[in-house]
Amino acid sequence: MSTIYLTRKGHFAAAHRLHNPELSDEENLRIYGPCNNPNWHGHNYNLEVTIAGEPDPRTGMLCNLKDLDRVIRQTIIDQVDHKNLNLEVAFLDGVTTTVENLVLRFWQVLADQIPAGRLHEIRLYETERNVAIYRGE
Ligand code: NI
Repeated sequence: MSTIYLTRKGHFAAAHRLHNPELSDEENLRIYGPCNNPNWHGHNYNLEVTIAGEPDPRTGMLCNLKDLDRVIRQTIIDQVDHKNLNLEVAFLDGVTTTVENLVLRFWQVLADQIPAGRLHEIRLYETERNVAIYRGE
């Protein structure tokens, strides 16, 4: 068996604020620093979705990248691009919008749209130096 990993990249820009209402303002500021700014701030996020499997011998393809791109766009990018992640995204309601929590929620909404067992990994870059990776474990 020859498992191939195929990755499609996406991009979006969004605003957020890291703030847990269960903590005091002082604690929030200490934990989240500048990301706790009450007037929001933004990031240019990069997203990498990897699927795994064997290429179809007839087409030589693991999946149609156009289809994968459409699913990523409709399920995630169109929902979050140029939005306030704290206020405007239904599937992030009540979620503290850390890169860790975002990658987890992205997996949950995307997994429903991709054939079982195919979704292998999601990487979400909040900055060039901060990346969260989830493999559904
Ligand atoms: Ni931030």
